[in-house]
Amino acid sequence: MTEQTHDRLLIIDFGSQVTQLIARRLRELNVYCEIHPYQNVTEAFLREMAPRAVILSGGPDSVTREGSPRAPDALFTMGVPVLGICYGQQVMMQQLGGAVTGGKISGGGGTAEFGRAFVTPASPLDLVEGWFADGREQVWMSHGDHVSQLAPGFEVYGTSPNAPYAITADTSRHFYAVQFHPEVHHTPKGAKLYENFVKLAGFTGDWTMGAYREQAIQAIRDQVGDKQVICGLSGGVDSSVAAVLIHEAIGDQLTCVFVDHGLLRKNEADEVVAMFRDNYNIPLIHADEADLFLGELEGQSDPETKRKIIGRLFIDVFQKYADQVEGAEFLAQGTLYPDVIESVSFSGGPSVTIKSHHNVGGLPEKMGLKLVEPLRELFKDEVRALGRELGLPASFIGRHPFPGPGLAIRCPGEITRPKLDILREADAVYIDQIRKHGLYDEIWQAFVAILPVRTVGVMGDGRTYDYACALRAVTSVDGMTADYYPFTHDFLGETATRIINEVPGINRVTYDITSKPPGTIEWE
Ligand code: XMP
Repeated sequence: MTEQTHDRLLIIDFGSQVTQLIARRLRELNVYCEIHPYQNVTEAFLREMAPRAVILSGGPDSVTREGSPRAPDALFTMGVPVLGICYGQQVMMQQLGGAVTGGKISGGGGTAEFGRAFVTPASPLDLVEGWFADGREQVWMSHGDHVSQLAPGFEVYGTSPNAPYAITADTSRHFYAVQFHPEVHHTPKGAKLYENFVKLAGFTGDWTMGAYREQAIQAIRDQVGDKQVICGLSGGVDSSVAAVLIHEAIGDQLTCVFVDHGLLRKNEADEVVAMFRDNYNIPLIHADEADLFLGELEGQSDPETKRKIIGRLFIDVFQKYADQVEGAEFLAQGTLYPDVIESVSFSGGPSVTIKSHHNVGGLPEKMGLKLVEPLRELFKDEVRALGRELGLPASFIGRHPFPGPGLAIRCPGEITRPKLDILREADAVYIDQIRKHGLYDEIWQAFVAILPVRTVGVMGDGRTYDYACALRAVTSVDGMTADYYPFTHDFLGETATRIINEVPGINRVTYDITSKPPGTIEWE
């Protein structure tokens, strides 16, 4: 637990995929919070942390199963407000003397509910002040089990057609328990519920990005001590913010390694190196390893194989340069929360791997370097806010995200140098178009993918047989969901013409209109 002076809120994590979103909603309210897995939250822990309020997250288990996760009983006699969400609601009811009935997952049949639902109020409640202006409120349900009997002292304050106990509370003890997930976007006014909760718990909202910076710096100092750290700079916002933050924490104990894997965009290497040399006094190794990466990727076309190769080589390369930095014991990375949630379950349990992100997966245990990941809890827009706080140039902070595996995952099929060269040129034209039309800042991420297919065209009087490419542009809040950007046909037509005229090797341009989900932002 980090030493700090702010009022704290404890989130007890029962393994929900969206627990981190609760923390995000609270940070938006300038409330300091910590997430701890339920296994670690003992009575002694509670007394030491002394939270001003506690939130119990959702989770995949069933409270009807023997041995399923619980909160320490002491929590309910500490006199602090408690908010239980979904599984957290069921934990509260079970522990406080109510009852929960198993749904389909736990063999009880029948009452599972997944997706949008509408809650109507039963009687007024401080927790949902500001809700129900239109008589009902949209919420997101995702539960198998349901509460079948309220614990003594609790009353119903809101119901939905399938959830008679959608909103419940024991107002005398400030215990609140809801069946739905207020933290997700599909509960549009969910943020208001958190705002009400922290207000009634007495938080003053004094936790800012400046405070986060101070805390993160202290945490880095505590973790690293007097040891040396190397930081992989990718040229993206994340690793740059991580590097500047760590530099501020430990000064010249940090050495940055910029790996040019031959999969960067046009002029990117020069720009990044210049940016760091001009603006910061951070020791920087420029590692040109294009031959190594492109050599090992030769002939590979499976997306996961490519990602794994790149991930492994990154680590090898870092290790090589780390060996040159005397006393290097730590490897810093700009891993963000979306990288974590889609690669492994945050609580350490089993979850589906969608993509192996190079900066999370494949780190061999015997690597001999420990990880420093100061942005691991943050979403992209929060990293940008931290970057501004640290004084990084605005032009740099505003850059679109660029993935660690670089152009490799924008080149489905085999990766060859000629294809990469074509891709770089097409991407540069596309981005130039977007900037010229003043659209860059409206778009979360835009890039070209070169397709593993050649098509026939006609230019002048001649036949062409060149690559097709796809333009991608999406809007997003955090990279976890995304919509394709609605360019005008004029823009698309002009851009296609420019790419075909200016980039030898491409004779067909398509626009990708897939949202996420069901697509992902990158092509691989
Ligand atoms: P997807 O394609 O998973 O991408 O929808 C979501 C966001 O993550 C970026 N991305 C990565 N970033 N290492 C990274 O640092 C990776 O391996 C990686 N794969 C995807 C992607 O560019 C988008 O912003």
